[in-house]
Amino acid sequence: MRILRRIDEVRQFVSQAHQAGHRVGLVPTMGYLHAGHLSLIHRIRTHADSVIATIFVNPTQFGPGEDLDAYPRDEEGDLEKARAAGCDAVFLPTVDAMYPRGSETRIRPGPMANQLCGGRRPGHFEGVCTVVLKLFHLTRCDVACFGEKDFQQLAIIRRMVKDLDLSVDVLSGPIVREDDGLAMSSRNVYLDAPERAQAPILRRALLKAEALWSDGERDPNVLGQCVRTCLSEASLAKIDYIEVCDANSLHPWDGECAGVTVIAIAVFFGHTRLIDNCELGTESRTS
Ligand code: PAJ
Repeated sequence: MRILRRIDEVRQFVSQAHQAGHRVGLVPTMGYLHAGHLSLIHRIRTHADSVIATIFVNPTQFGPGEDLDAYPRDEEGDLEKARAAGCDAVFLPTVDAMYPRGSETRIRPGPMANQLCGGRRPGHFEGVCTVVLKLFHLTRCDVACFGEKDFQQLAIIRRMVKDLDLSVDVLSGPIVREDDGLAMSSRNVYLDAPERAQAPILRRALLKAEALWSDGERDPNVLGQCVRTCLSEASLAKIDYIEVCDANSLHPWDGECAGVTVIAIAVFFGHTRLIDNCELGTESRTS
């Protein structure tokens, strides 16, 4: 597995891959890899001949007072995991390489980025889109894979690919969970023992709403209230948001859920903000 740190190194690797007729696959990450990240590497393997994972804690997607400096890092462990998962190359650029002095151009996503996590983290998705577009260009990838755990991020990236006519196929991978249901996240290490013990409540709350949906409930207020009531059983959980939205536009439903629906939640345990979601009604999806 090649370890690429400089932009000219990644360009050269990609040129050689394309010359060999390879389809290049990209899995962007911020590192501290877990089984969720690795599942995306496995998934893209079946769609690409050359797989590049990137590890870059992207400063432009962190707001003031967020955990940029504290973000967990483990370069050696990550490289070992990426190698075992079958990556052909890992690109680990420096902040200066990605944002040299004077860099100021940014990608501004549309209104889809102003709700849910974007409403609470202004500028977050601008930073995500900017770095993802740069990584698409640097790796000239044919296909890229993102996790459904970050449902809004996935929707915004798909939108960007359409709106900017990018020739990248976007794949997604399902949420990988711990045995007790907690969605895997690099940020789970921030949880102390009592918080960690209560954190699976996010999954349980979503499963309760899913059961209501299966019984035919389509009132977004009732579905949202079901999640809220369940979460209120966890004394350490502070709800940031619970939204019952149209899975395509990410707009909260006004009236009955009239199509594929996502329930997206964000919950604080102490300073740690956890997100999770479930998609409902996918059986009726046409595309
Ligand atoms: P990061 O949080 O490291 O996640 C990298 C990728 O792994 C994202 O596509 C995310 O949705 C996916 N992922 C995280 N946890 C997952 C889980 N439990 N199951 C399945 N997939 C999971 O998301 C980012 O980094 C950044 O915003 C990035 C896209 C790299 C841009 O900087």
